[in-house]
Amino acid sequence: MTFTLPELPYAHDALAPYMSKETLEFHHDKHHLAYVTNGNTLLKGTEWAGKSLEEVVKGSFARNPGLFNNAAQHYNHSKFWNWLKPAGGGAIPGALEKALIDSLGSVEKAKADLIQAGVTQFGSGWAWFSVVGGKIAVTKTANGENPLVHGGQPILGLDVWEHSYYIDYRNRRPDYLKAVVDNLVNWECVAELYAAAVK
Ligand code: FE2
Repeated sequence: MTFTLPELPYAHDALAPYMSKETLEFHHDKHHLAYVTNGNTLLKGTEWAGKSLEEVVKGSFARNPGLFNNAAQHYNHSKFWNWLKPAGGGAIPGALEKALIDSLGSVEKAKADLIQAGVTQFGSGWAWFSVVGGKIAVTKTANGENPLVHGGQPILGLDVWEHSYYIDYRNRRPDYLKAVVDNLVNWECVAELYAAAVK
């Protein structure tokens, strides 16, 4: 297989004012495309050519950093577009809500922990909800790393690279994270991934 840039599942201006058209034009059309293009170049001729994206990510981790960085960022961003939606951030489906309470104490604490992970990630990276041993964990990773390479199944990731917020929020990363959690997260998508991860 080769990597291909997925279409955004909504119009570029659909997430405004929380994430602008200009941000999505750069973030999706340029940054994500670059991961796809560079990933395809670096994949050619390796032992992972022909493998699924998830296999490329897991297999290249710590063994082929150039390929890993691009493949993992392609994986992360392909998920990320679906973790957002216009008029998101509303009610959390029941089974996921229960799991967040069981694993992290309360929905409010789970959201606050996720935001705090993103705020405290030093430099570029991601904040995550992932399923580990049947429970939901909050983690943060640097650069393109994700829970897949640490034994977890990612169910929600928030991009904290500056390219995801600097146009709209400048240096105010906490404001970006709160706006995304409150207004853009597609909890139905997160709930589906949670259900699949604990099946
Ligand atoms: Fe990004």
